[in-house]
Amino acid sequence: MRAALLILLGLVIGVIGTSQVMSALAARNPMPKAVMHTMGYHMGELKQAMKAQKCDAATIQHHLLRLQSTATDILPTFGIAEKAFTDDADQLQTRLQQAAVSAPATCAALAAALKPVGETCQSCHQQYR
Ligand code: HEC
Repeated sequence: MRAALLILLGLVIGVIGTSQVMSALAARNPMPKAVMHTMGYHMGELKQAMKAQKCDAATIQHHLLRLQSTATDILPTFGIAEKAFTDDADQLQTRLQQAAVSAPATCAALAAALKPVGETCQSCHQQYR
């Protein structure tokens, strides 16, 4: 009887332990999604500005620089070494840098600067999202 109870206790502890490990694993790394959400926010603000036709050069530059610096977190947080992925991440950085350097001051200039950026977001999402 006592042995049976101990075995049962062992099983219960095992089940509890396993479920704790599983949830710890799931919560392990929120960073990849956090990086994407941050970029999504800044892209959203820029699209909103174009929609509202309120393209203030300083505001645009702020969001472009935030996008550029956030994009540098993609490779270290995702930890995906496949060439197609790292190529897209590199290309995103290059294109965001070009967009920031072009310092768009009108909605038309912003739309032109964001087009290649959006294409890179899409290219990676098609394959990896
Ligand atoms: C190098 C590849 C790559 C590039 C470039 C990229 N993404 Fe992502 N993105 C991903 C992957 C992979 C996911 C799915 C993440 C997940 O589900 O864990 C994702 C998911 C997202 C999500 C959804 C987050 C979620 O899971 O809820 C948003 C928003 C997003 N990306 C925005 C962007 C924007 C905006 C850009 C361009 C400025 C961009 N991404 C460029 C790889 C990329």
